[in-house]
Amino acid sequence: MPATVVVGTQWGDEGKGKLTDLLAKEARLVVRYQGGHNAGHTIVVDGESFALQLVPSGVLYSHTVPVIGNGVVVDPAVLIAECEMLESRGIDTSRLVVSGNAHLIMPYHYELDLMTERFLGHNKLGTTKRGIGPAYADKAARIGLRVQDLLDPKIFREKLGVVLREKNALLSRVYNRLPLDQAKIEERYLGELAPRIAPMIGDTVALVHTALEAGEQVMLEGAQATFLDLDHGTYPFVTSSNPVAGGACVGAGIGPRDISRVVGIVKAYVTRVGSGPFPTEVDGEVADYLVDRGHEYGTNTGRRRRPGWLDLVMIRHAARLNSLSELAITKLDVLSRLETLKVCTAYEDTTDGTRYEHIPYHQSVLHRVVPVYEELPGWQEDLAGATSVDDLPAEARRYVELIARVAGVRVSYVGVGPGREQYVSFAAA
Ligand code: IMP
Repeated sequence: MPATVVVGTQWGDEGKGKLTDLLAKEARLVVRYQGGHNAGHTIVVDGESFALQLVPSGVLYSHTVPVIGNGVVVDPAVLIAECEMLESRGIDTSRLVVSGNAHLIMPYHYELDLMTERFLGHNKLGTTKRGIGPAYADKAARIGLRVQDLLDPKIFREKLGVVLREKNALLSRVYNRLPLDQAKIEERYLGELAPRIAPMIGDTVALVHTALEAGEQVMLEGAQATFLDLDHGTYPFVTSSNPVAGGACVGAGIGPRDISRVVGIVKAYVTRVGSGPFPTEVDGEVADYLVDRGHEYGTNTGRRRRPGWLDLVMIRHAARLNSLSELAITKLDVLSRLETLKVCTAYEDTTDGTRYEHIPYHQSVLHRVVPVYEELPGWQEDLAGATSVDDLPAEARRYVELIARVAGVRVSYVGVGPGREQYVSFAAA
């Protein structure tokens, strides 16, 4: 049975965790394919909220095997802490498998993330300061340490020695920081963390293919989102991996023909954390309303997210980049009681009147375009209790229909609250 990819279509925080959790009901494996603990997925089960950073959403079902794929960057201390948190709340994490090829986030990655941001000054990216960029940079530079190196102390020490010489020179001579102590890092990673991580390490590529060959459902869970993609996002205000659906192939070790379904998660409005262009950004009363009702503060960093109206130019573009087969809309309930809703259907470059229906490739254009809005009447009703399409007010249905029409992709689910059961399912046309 082919695999399903769940991918964010905006700048992250679309509520992917909830949808992945919903789709994971049918899955045997749930695989994270990129990113690290810069992600934050919140899933509410029976009124209890679980905030996950690194462990795939599927962990909350006893029938799924959560997998951390080779494309992920792993801080083993964070992984252990997250497993302990879940265990203390009665969730069994013993099925978790971590790819031996995934790269390790090391103490110097945190330092370098901080320092790079500081040196960028007002041009800073607003990273999550989790060492993500520096860890991926080392992977590309072929000086990264991998999860499997934890199993071989001799190799680990040798690689660390080489890389630390360069990192310490950089930290002390360029950034004026104290050098890091190799013995302390070895003690922490090899002495404390390796014995805890070792039982989780496995051949995740073989695991995924065995499941696919046995006809089992495999879910591929993206972190961050399309417009934070290193290649296709609003560079340089992006993350250092490839959240787009194509990244799932690389980050899990499958080919494009193994994927049959790509679900794009669309929040009913837009938010963004960190810096970068955002054509439909709003401030004032509407902004406060969206942030308060939508609890738009980082799961991970606590930062207030920048809010804006739904941007269908982005979604149309995301549909192409990810070959989306369907959309799942989240947080529609947050829009209740707004008199008028604006939806961006195109951009206009006011300097020459050019109209854009897809994201302009030149970032300077994206910075200066203005949104072309379609205005729709809002609805007063609370959507939290809706369980079928008929429970949605006509205005809410029109909003959903507009998204499907402009994006050119059908909508299969609409989220109406944070709970596991709070969604409306749209039958395939
Ligand atoms: P990094 O991934 O920590 O390097 O941060 C790079 C950019 O991606 C920053 O603008 C972050 O705010 C953003 N980012 C990283 N992870 C997430 C996420 O899970 N949700 C939303 N934004 C994120």
